Amino acid sequence: MSDVTAIAHPNFALIKYWGKTDSINNFPAMSSISITIDTLYSTAKVSFDSSLKKDLWVLNDTEQESLGQIEPTINYLKSFKAVKDPCVIKSINNFPTAAGLASSASGVASIVIAINEFFNLNLSEKELVDAAILGSGSAPRSLYPGFVHLNKKDYSCETILDTNEWPLKIIICQTSSDKKLVSSREGMRISKLTSSYYEAWVNDQDNDINKALKAIKTKDFDLLGEVSEDNCKKMHKVMETSQPPLIYRNLTTHLCIQKIKEMKFIGIGIFYTIDAGPQVKIICKAKHADQVISEMKSIPNIQDIIEVNLGQGARLINEG
Ligand code: PMV
Repeated sequence: MSDVTAIAHPNFALIKYWGKTDSINNFPAMSSISITIDTLYSTAKVSFDSSLKKDLWVLNDTEQESLGQIEPTINYLKSFKAVKDPCVIKSINNFPTAAGLASSASGVASIVIAINEFFNLNLSEKELVDAAILGSGSAPRSLYPGFVHLNKKDYSCETILDTNEWPLKIIICQTSSDKKLVSSREGMRISKLTSSYYEAWVNDQDNDINKALKAIKTKDFDLLGEVSEDNCKKMHKVMETSQPPLIYRNLTTHLCIQKIKEMKFIGIGIFYTIDAGPQVKIICKAKHADQVISEMKSIPNIQDIIEVNLGQGARLINEG
């Protein structure tokens, strides 16, 4: 059997998931809406290796001690076919891993697509989504292009608007490349147990989902900005009121937020979102991208500013 390689891009949630109903199946406690981006990517190459005793995961050229977070995904996928020989999965991210740039989503999505092809599993879309959820609750969204809705009703996933239907720009302001101290998985567990805002956060989510769906379907930029920023602030409130508090934002993150407020004040149509990490993702119309980048460059300690577009879903790629 020849090697198979797949690629997937990170996705950034506009209406976020933070909390699980069930930590064994890794089911999110709420629906979420995201944008899949381009430029940043994860690749996964799968091949057999008869010298191995068990499956091996190599992440960014480093052999992992165990399959870790991807083990439930691999076990689920392999349950569709009796496979005796161990395989090696080589994952590469072309951007910082575990730093709030959704590397687990793109990483898991690329692995799901590569393994489905490698073992000729021919899984349905729903089965691919189920496989991805087991590795990371946000990973199914990276299987799809453009604006994506992951619905908690039946854990199905679909594109609301495709990549070219509303070609907004995303400006990623990288304020640190350090790995986060508390993983999303552990952070969600802590928040559910300790934040007094957790219940309200979960209960309010459907309202935000409905507003965002309306905004995306009608391409109402202001409404999407309003509900996305509000949802992001609520998630960070839940994080920061957890015990111990989960502080993912750093000083530079706050300087970015201040600069965004100033730009809005002078009439530039932009909004931001921030995940479990200190990076700020600004969403704007293409006509404003250059001005936004030049303003953000003035902030001290910004490590990198990357302009990206909406991107494609996970897919197979040929070996170069
Ligand atoms: O899928 P996970 O376990 O990496 O968690 C993702 C959590 C957030 O990025 C903060 C929100 C989201 O919906 O992507």
